Amino acid sequence: MIVLGVETSCDETSCALIDDRLRVLSNPVYSQLEHQKYGGIVPEVASRQQIKKIVPIYQECLRSAGMTIDDVDAIAVTRGPGLIGSLLVGVNFAKGLAFAAGKKIIGINHLEGHLSSNYLEHPDLKPPFIALIISGGHTLLVLVKDFCDYQLLGQTRDDAAGEAYDKVAKLLGLGYPGGVRVDKLARAGNPEFHKFPRAVVKNDPYAFSFSGLKTSVVMYLRDLPESFAENNLDDICASFQEAVVDMLAERCLRALDEFKMDRLAIAGGVAANTRIREHFTQVARKSGFNFYYPSLDLCTDNAAMIAAAGVIRLKRGEASSLGLDASAQLPLV
Ligand code: KG4
Ligand code: ZN
Repeated sequence: MIVLGVETSCDETSCALIDDRLRVLSNPVYSQLEHQKYGGIVPEVASRQQIKKIVPIYQECLRSAGMTIDDVDAIAVTRGPGLIGSLLVGVNFAKGLAFAAGKKIIGINHLEGHLSSNYLEHPDLKPPFIALIISGGHTLLVLVKDFCDYQLLGQTRDDAAGEAYDKVAKLLGLGYPGGVRVDKLARAGNPEFHKFPRAVVKNDPYAFSFSGLKTSVVMYLRDLPESFAENNLDDICASFQEAVVDMLAERCLRALDEFKMDRLAIAGGVAANTRIREHFTQVARKSGFNFYYPSLDLCTDNAAMIAAAGVIRLKRGEASSLGLDASAQLPLV
């Protein structure tokens, strides 16, 4: 079985081909650069770019795998959550193609896609396990009871982890998207330079909150001369990042302990973070659990992860109808 994945939920346009053993045959991704000058994603610009890029990326995907649409058995497409205008481009493209070429179609939750990026590279990763999904729009801690069977343990009450990175980067004048820039600067910084607060949510030990952390960076810099931030960028980034890492790790370790799990998988754009990968690798070695993370290319939005979730659901006999619709707020559970 060959599955074509289609991902257009935000500012990346991607198509991928994978086989039923989850081997990636091609996975081109176009990342929109148009948003940099606005300092954040402009939804209207994003959907217009999706319209421009979807067909060329689809053609490139087939070409680089040396295949035609005749080789494809089914199409897996992101139906949410995401920006509605962007989602609609992928969903309608996939539906049109499925109708014209007579292929099965299946709608995929973008967050399940992120989680499934781990299945592409770690065939030994099988449920049950704990998953931490950390992206620009979401922060979720999940107990994966079985394939496609999730128990939500906690999510963010305000900003997502990636959003916190992007906001702090903007504050520090690092531009957009900021996560990767903060990560880079933090590598040379001292994580103990300043102790930013680690938020806990009352009566909800698995919930996350990042907006207070962002505010505390604002308050910290407010009374200091501008040159202070400029001269201590590495240390401020490292200290901010350490607070994020601590908050994420505390919830994950609690869940591993409470649910007696010995496997933790992380996914999403923020899972590309050097310090998060390094910290969890060290803790896993010390505490004796297995830690899984996707390679860098598969952390940020891509269609191979959507196709992987598609293969898993199609093998269970699932499929969608051509009535499939996009849903901006689609929950994982
Ligand atoms: O998963 P993703 O590509 O898109 C969403 O589904 O939201 O995640 C994008 C997010 C952005 O907030 C970006 O700043 C963040 O992932 N990000 C990082 C790193 N690389 C990307 N955050 C921290 N460290 C990184 N190395
Ligand atoms: Zn994403």
